Amino acid sequence: MSAEMERTFVAVKPDGVQRGLCGEIIKRFEQKGFRLVAAKFLQASEDHMKKHYADLKDKPFFAGLCKYMSSGPIFAMVWEGQNIVKMGRMMLGETNPADSKPGSIRGDFCIQVGRNIIHGSDTMENAKLEIALWFKPEEFVSYKPCAQEWLYE
Ligand code: RTP
Ligand code: MG
Repeated sequence: MSAEMERTFVAVKPDGVQRGLCGEIIKRFEQKGFRLVAAKFLQASEDHMKKHYADLKDKPFFAGLCKYMSSGPIFAMVWEGQNIVKMGRMMLGETNPADSKPGSIRGDFCIQVGRNIIHGSDTMENAKLEIALWFKPEEFVSYKPCAQEWLYE
């Protein structure tokens, strides 16, 4: 059976970067068996964050969220794997760390909703939009991981 591959956009937020959690987050996606296909370290503009969180433009926290997300460095990544959008969200935990189970990233490493250290696309449609917003086609690296045949049958 060949695996249907999906891609998702994951970003370590400024709080996660400042707290030194990029390595831990990469480790969790790597050890699950997902494949990193693009990555960059950058400080996003407020305008870019307004596009990224456009779905939330009517929320009372929108302006503060976009300002905060552009206040410091972000580690932006695209990961690939079977069913990765749904599984990635499960690995993140709930939006509010207080509702996130231990074992999830937010459940293990943070406390408040406004400092929940990581972003992950919530639907396949949003994943496509976010990947196109953050990465150019030439920023993707094509390779076959040596473990591929041991992850998928
Ligand atoms: P994200 O997009 O960052 O991965 O988070 P999410 O899907 O779990 O949650 P979403 O509803 O998309 O909210 C985006 C981010 O806004 C902040 N937030 N603050 N003060 C509040 O009530 C509140 N609610 C959400 C969080 O940082 C959340 O991750
Ligand atoms: Mg979201």
